[in-house]
Amino acid sequence: MGVTILAIESSCDDTSAAVIRDGYILSNLIAGQDVHKSYGGVVPELASRAHQANIVPVVDMAIKRAGVNIEDINAVAFTRGPGLLGSLLVGTSFAKGFALARDIPLIEVNHLQAHVLAHFIKKDDKASGTPEFPFLCLLVSGGHTRIILLKSHLEMETLGNTIDDAAGEAFDKCGKLMGLTYPAGPEIDKLASQGSKKAFTFSKPSVPGLDFSFSGLKTGFLYFLRDRLKEDPDFIEKNKPDLCASLQHTIVNILMDKLIKASLTTGIMEIGIAGGVSANSGLRNEVTREGKKRNWNIFIPEISLTTDNAAMIGITGYYKYLGNEFTGQDIVPLARL
Ligand code: KG4
Ligand code: ZN
Repeated sequence: MGVTILAIESSCDDTSAAVIRDGYILSNLIAGQDVHKSYGGVVPELASRAHQANIVPVVDMAIKRAGVNIEDINAVAFTRGPGLLGSLLVGTSFAKGFALARDIPLIEVNHLQAHVLAHFIKKDDKASGTPEFPFLCLLVSGGHTRIILLKSHLEMETLGNTIDDAAGEAFDKCGKLMGLTYPAGPEIDKLASQGSKKAFTFSKPSVPGLDFSFSGLKTGFLYFLRDRLKEDPDFIEKNKPDLCASLQHTIVNILMDKLIKASLTTGIMEIGIAGGVSANSGLRNEVTREGKKRNWNIFIPEISLTTDNAAMIGITGYYKYLGNEFTGQDIVPLARL
C-alpha cells in the first residue's frame, strides 16, 4: 500500500492539512485567516483561536479529498517550530491526539527544513526532477531569510541568516508604509509589473559573509517617503507602481548578491529558492536569468508550494518515517528551533 502520512502545519496564520503517499501529494488544503488583514500583521492570539476553529474541518477535508481511509494513515507529521507558540500548540496538540487515538507514530518537523524539502515532493511528470545533494537553497519567507545547505534530505546547515528583519517583512512593512494591506508582498509584486525598477534608488546594506539585513532598507524607505510626502502629499498615490518596482528590485538584488556568493564560495550549482517570497516574480526571473548565465541547475517551486502548506510538512515527515525518526507524546512545540 505504501507509506501514507497525514501532515499538519499551523506555525503562523494558515491552518493546513495534507495527505502524502510515498512522497506524492494526495491532498493539500489551506485555510487562511482574513482576520489579521485590518491589523497590518498577524495577531498571535487571533491566529491561535482561528487554528482551533479550523483544524478539525481542514483535516477532515484533507482526508476526504485524498480519498484514503483513516485506517490507511501510517503516521502523523506536524510542525514543531519555529513559529508562533499559540499557533504551534494547536497543530501539535491535534497531531498528538490523532497519533494516540490511531496508535500510529508521531513525527515532528522543522518548518524551515520543510520549506526546503518542498523541492523533493514527487510528481508524475518526468521532466521535473528533484535536486541532487549538496543542494543550496535560498529560503525567503515572512519570518526567515537564510541560505541553507542541504547535504541529504535530513541534514541541513545554515550558511547565512538575516541579522534583523526577514525579506518578507521588508515587503510587508514597506507595503504598510504605502498603505497596502497585510501581507503586502503579493500586491507589491503585482504593482511592480506596471512600474519602473529604475525610478528610485534605495541603498543596499553591507553585511559580511552570507548574512542579510533588511531593517536599514525599511528605515531608508520610511525616511524617503516622509521627505517626498512633505513636498507632495499625493506622492505615494502618484508613484505606487514605480515605488513597488524599485523596492522589489532592491530586495531581489540583496538576495541575489548573497545567493551568487554562496554558489561561488561553495562551488555548488544545484540551486533553489523556497518560502513565501519565492513566489515573487522578480526573484523567480532573476534566479532563472542568473541560473542560465552561470549554468546552475535551478529549482523554483510551484506557487502553491511557496507559502506555508502542509504538503511540505508531509514530505519531510515521509523522509523522517523512512529514517525511523519518530517522537514521543511528551513533545512540546518550540517558537524558536
Ligand atoms: O512562507 P510564508 O507563507 O510564511 C512564513 O513562513 O513566514 O511567507 C509569507 C511571506 C509574507 O511576508 C508575504 O508578503 C510574502 O511571503 N510573499 C511575497 C509574495 N507572496 C508572498 N512576497 C513578495 N512577492 C510575492 N509574490
Ligand atoms: Zn513558512
